[in-house]
Amino acid sequence: MDLNTLKQTAARRAVEDVEDGMVVGLGTGSTAAFAVSALAERVRLGLRVVGIPTSERTARQAEAEGIGLGTLAEYPRVDLTIDGADEVALGELALIKGLGGALLREKIVAAASERLIIIVDATKLVERLGSHGPLPVEVAPFGWQATARALERLGGQANLRAQEGQAFLTDGGHYILDCRFGPIARPAELEAAIDRIPGVVESGLFVGMASAVIVADEGGIEVLTP
Ligand code: A5P
Repeated sequence: MDLNTLKQTAARRAVEDVEDGMVVGLGTGSTAAFAVSALAERVRLGLRVVGIPTSERTARQAEAEGIGLGTLAEYPRVDLTIDGADEVALGELALIKGLGGALLREKIVAAASERLIIIVDATKLVERLGSHGPLPVEVAPFGWQATARALERLGGQANLRAQEGQAFLTDGGHYILDCRFGPIARPAELEAAIDRIPGVVESGLFVGMASAVIVADEGGIEVLTP
């Protein structure tokens, strides 16, 4: 089974939990895009939902596929958010998110949600966060070099994310510093320390937020809960 089939399998399973009348947070990334399409299929069959997108990219996809959208101003309480993740730590189910660049809106929508369902293929599972890739940290463009130095003092090697020779800009107009910390022993402590640095807008550590993680692998689907 290829990776996309696994992502789609997890996405379809998560969308089964959406009920008529729900306000649904729509995640960002290749796995979340499968969930948006699966939800759109159900909408075409008559399901009524309001989608709260976590990025401009997801908003465009949802609109194109026929999902009605709202904002957190109109719908401050989100019933269920379905989103992907870059790494999921077994046990407490802490997450790294943001390789797709949407971590700030993802975290705001997740925090406003009754339930956050994370959908991944099994390659995303790790013993310790930071084992596979960097931790994305969204920062203000002003003085980003000073912010990067402060992150390095916490032990992460910070690289400004670039796209086509320019600094990558998030939907909020911020930069992203991809920080290599290596395996992270205490994610909650690191998250708090990063949040205290002036210039940091948000980190891609999501600790204590996932209600469930749906993992698809060759053997089928497993639902992990914290
Ligand atoms: C977007 O900012 C990210 O948090 C994504 O949700 C995450 O990177 C997972 O993306 P993929 O499903 O494409 O791996």
